[in-house]
Amino acid sequence: MNIFITGGTTGIGLALAQLYLEEGHRVGICARNLEKFPSEIKNKYKLLKCYQVDVVNREELRTAIFDFAQGNLDIIFANAGRSVGAKSKTPLFSVANNIIDINVKGVLNAFEAALEIMVPQKRGHLVATASVAGFIGLPGAGAYSASKAAVLRLCESYSIDLKPVGINVSAIAPGFIDTPLTKQNNHKMPFIMSSQKAAKLIKKAVEKKKVLYLFPMRMKIIVTILEIIPRSWYRALMGFRVFNYSSKD
Ligand SMILES: NC(=O)c1ccc[n+]([C@@H]2O[C@H](COP(=O)([O-])OP(=O)(O)OC[C@H]3O[C@@H](n4cnc5c(N)ncnc54)[C@H](OP(=O)(O)O)[C@@H]3O)[C@@H](O)[C@H]2O)c1
Repeated sequence: MNIFITGGTTGIGLALAQLYLEEGHRVGICARNLEKFPSEIKNKYKLLKCYQVDVVNREELRTAIFDFAQGNLDIIFANAGRSVGAKSKTPLFSVANNIIDINVKGVLNAFEAALEIMVPQKRGHLVATASVAGFIGLPGAGAYSASKAAVLRLCESYSIDLKPVGINVSAIAPGFIDTPLTKQNNHKMPFIMSSQKAAKLIKKAVEKKKVLYLFPMRMKIIVTILEIIPRSWYRALMGFRVFNYSSKD
């Protein structure tokens, strides 16, 4: 298979790339800084192609995906993303804008280019890495929650729209995964899992063509409860957390 992964140099994207490469698939990855990609993996796999691309740049990303696919693309993982970093009680709008650009427009740009190849093929699979944060408005992470909610809704709509043309769509909503992204967190991260384990679960969900995959199970239960309780209860519960931001937050 030909598989393209945005944000493939570290964390979940890197673990997915390794899994597919080990199985003998052709894999293309992109990121802004390719030096983060482990050189031993780069040297080991001839079927790997790396592109220095910012997913926010529509044309750059399209060029990379087209160069990799050569007219044949099986799966695209729109995985590149960023989180809030240090949390703040007042919104940091420059950060919020960048989060929306990368996490939402980056997914649109990846899907747009992939579909140009997949629609004529009449087959293909669009996969986006959303988050459990997309189901609730996380305090201190409004733009991140909003960006992931947008990705979830995009995928839901596209899964209906694209089914008749033979294209599957999956939204992946992980809980906490141990990656450079979560290393910045200075709060508790329940049920945190390795990126290798997460990648195996994501790969399986993609094989099963799940439209939505929320994991791990214990996080799924918690998020489902938080999503359905009265919003006043949710605000009261989460408001308590805001008062507990440390000075570093
Ligand atoms: N870790 C978690 O707990 C968790 C939970 C739920 C969802 N997610 C989502 O999972 C995805 C992957 O996150 P991760 O935890 O694996 O984070 P990560 O280790 O920080 O990886 C992010 C990847 O995206 C790339 N990237 C970031 N901005 C980019 C841009 N503008 N253009 C191109 N590439 C870009 C990064 O490389 P460069 O910085 O060099 O560009 C890197 O390769 C994200 O969408 C994240 O929101 C993560």
